[in-house]
Amino acid sequence: MNPVKHVAIIMDGNGRWGIKKRKSRNYGHKQGLKTVEKIIVESLKKNIKFLTLFAFSTENWKRPKNEIKFLFSLLESFLKKKIKDFHRQKIKLSVIGKKNFSNKLNNLIYKSEKLTSRNNKLQINLALNYGSKSEIVDTFNIIKKKGLKISEKTINKNLYTANIPDPDILIRTGNTNRLSNFLLWQIAYSEIFFEKKLWPDFNKKDYNRIINNYKKIKRNFGNI
Ligand code: FPP
Repeated sequence: MNPVKHVAIIMDGNGRWGIKKRKSRNYGHKQGLKTVEKIIVESLKKNIKFLTLFAFSTENWKRPKNEIKFLFSLLESFLKKKIKDFHRQKIKLSVIGKKNFSNKLNNLIYKSEKLTSRNNKLQINLALNYGSKSEIVDTFNIIKKKGLKISEKTINKNLYTANIPDPDILIRTGNTNRLSNFLLWQIAYSEIFFEKKLWPDFNKKDYNRIINNYKKIKRNFGNI
């Protein structure tokens, strides 16, 4: 049985869910956050060590201002409300992406990361203002600046995800079969699960089904 160390998730479908319920896209995001909380609880129970969540992409800046504002206020209140609880549960929070937000948010992220930095029960990587191609470009520039040779090892060591094992499982909800510029280097050998359900409808039963299916897969990594 394959052990599950790292699950990465593209949480797609909040907007459509909100509209389907005859409410707003933002209402969908609010419900999506409830699913995030459920999946964190389940990951703790399953002893998963790394959970990477795609919360905001470098391309999401194209969305209407009101939606962007709402997403960031949701994130801010989530961090403020949950960080002490995370710390108590030995959860480490890490933000991956270009951290060039408002001073207020940068500060909140910095404090949250610092408070939880020594925890080792579960590491939550929040991908915020994240784009895989821009991560790879940043990584190459860091390697160049350090005067190192480009190799798989130096790339791995200088990605935003340095020191994090590659995802075993990538889940994308929302009935769309694409990767949307998420962890393109890191998912070279991940098992990918595309789910029809919209993110707010995704539940612990779905999560457990995916994990159980993953455990049964024979992973060859190019071997036979
Ligand atoms: C994609 O759905 C989802 C996002 C761009 C944001 C994800 C945010 C959350 C799950 C809530 C906030 C999370 C945290 C951790 C604070 P979409 O809006 O693109 O859905 P659509 O495809 O139906 O339009």
